[in-house]
Amino acid sequence: MKILITGNLGFIASHLHKKMTALGHEVVGIDNASHPCGQIVPYQYADVRYYQSVYKFIEWSDFVFHLAAQINVDKSINQSQETIETNVIGTANILDAVTKFDKKMIYASSSEIYGSSLSEVMDEDHALNPQSPYGASKVAADRLCKAYFTTYGTKVIIHRNFNIFGEYQNSDLYGAVIPKFISHALKNEPLEIYGDGTQERDFMHIQDAIKAYEFSFNHEPWGEEINFGTGRIISINDLAEMIVKITGSKSPIIHTNPRPGEIKRLCAGIEKAKKIGFLPQTDFERDLTSYINWYKKFIF
Ligand SMILES: NC(=O)c1ccc[n+]([C@@H]2O[C@H](COP(=O)([O-])OP(=O)(O)OC[C@H]3O[C@@H](n4cnc5c(N)ncnc54)[C@H](O)[C@@H]3O)[C@@H](O)[C@H]2O)c1
Repeated sequence: MKILITGNLGFIASHLHKKMTALGHEVVGIDNASHPCGQIVPYQYADVRYYQSVYKFIEWSDFVFHLAAQINVDKSINQSQETIETNVIGTANILDAVTKFDKKMIYASSSEIYGSSLSEVMDEDHALNPQSPYGASKVAADRLCKAYFTTYGTKVIIHRNFNIFGEYQNSDLYGAVIPKFISHALKNEPLEIYGDGTQERDFMHIQDAIKAYEFSFNHEPWGEEINFGTGRIISINDLAEMIVKITGSKSPIIHTNPRPGEIKRLCAGIEKAKKIGFLPQTDFERDLTSYINWYKKFIF
């Protein structure tokens, strides 16, 4: 099959590119190279903010994995325009072309659309209360996907991913908490926690995230929103302590001001994913340890 991956140079998409190629598909990846993760995969330049830049790739493809996005919450607060243009207009452009050329697609939505948990776990019917421009941009794109499905019958599946971690996740200024903590711990620098550290997250390993994409690709539950996470949570305090312990670091753990837009608790309700046959295999401590070992070998 001819597969197009947007955001191809990113953390998740670069793994997906390798997987789909290994399965024998013809894969083309597009990216504007604004936030590459460092994993080497072939790509062509295109910017999802511009329909003219992307529609030919979609016309060529059979199936589109749309992952391109501005993902950083802090950046979305400081520069909301770029986030909205990339995440909302970008997704509308992809949906327009997918609809026009009658293709299939999976959209990479996010648990950030829910905001802080109003219940023990969040299932797909949980209220949408985004707490940052990033979260709001993902709500807009998530709902656009649903509206295109309802209005035009667009073949789209909405993947609501909780936090993903693993090899090649970016540890730069705009990176995620796990690679940031690992990078600091290996240098014995302080691990800075926003607020009191009781905020909780559901972390799923990249291999499970790729399996989830493969699963939807094969099963085609068109129009469905599906949570993909583990259903288990860890607090940021416990995460910091675990990373200090595994790395044998001398890093102090310090607390800074709470950050605006920070969500208190994100725990995936995964009954729907389970019902259609997807079971995550993430063992957090085991997979974190293997990621730390990889990080020491290839990055540090
Ligand atoms: N990483 C997670 O934990 C997580 C959780 C939930 C949802 N998601 C979603 O999954 C997707 C991928 O996330 P990631 O962690 O791999 O992020 P990432 O930043 O590593 O990858 C995003 C890619 O998109 C590219 N990009 C940005 N703006 C673009 C534009 N205008 N045109 C073309 N390409 C552009 C970047 O250069 C980057 O390569 C995103 O849509 C994100 O919202 C990620």
